[in-house]
Amino acid sequence: MPNRALPFAAVPYFFYEACPESEVPEGTKRKLVIEDYEVALYNVAGTLFASGDPCPHERVSLADGGKLDGEIITCGAHRWAFNVRTGECYEDPGFCLKQHPVGRKDGMVYVGFWSDDE
Ligand code: FES
Repeated sequence: MPNRALPFAAVPYFFYEACPESEVPEGTKRKLVIEDYEVALYNVAGTLFASGDPCPHERVSLADGGKLDGEIITCGAHRWAFNVRTGECYEDPGFCLKQHPVGRKDGMVYVGFWSDDE
C-alpha cells in the first residue's frame, strides 16, 4: 500500500498514511516504515501515539522487541523504559523518544512529520 502525504495548511507538518486503525488494537504496538523513516505506533487505551522506532540507546527496534505496558514501552535489548505519551526516558533524560503527532480519518491512521525531519 503506497503512503500518501496529506498536507494540512494549518499545521507546520505533513501527515502520511500509516495503516488501518484495525491493525493497532488497544494495548498493542507496531513498527511502520513511512517514507524510509521507522516509526513505532502505540495504542494506549484507545489513544494512539507515535515515536521514532529505533531505541535512542543503541537503535534496537522498540516496536518489534519492546514490551508495552500502559503508556510505558520497555526496550527488549537493555530494558530502558520510555513514556510513549511524553517521550520521556526514565533511565536518562537525554535519550527521550522523538514524538510524532497522530491523526485518524475514515478508519486510517496518519502519522505527522515536521518538514525538516530526517
Ligand atoms: S537498545 Fe534499547 S535499551 Fe539499549
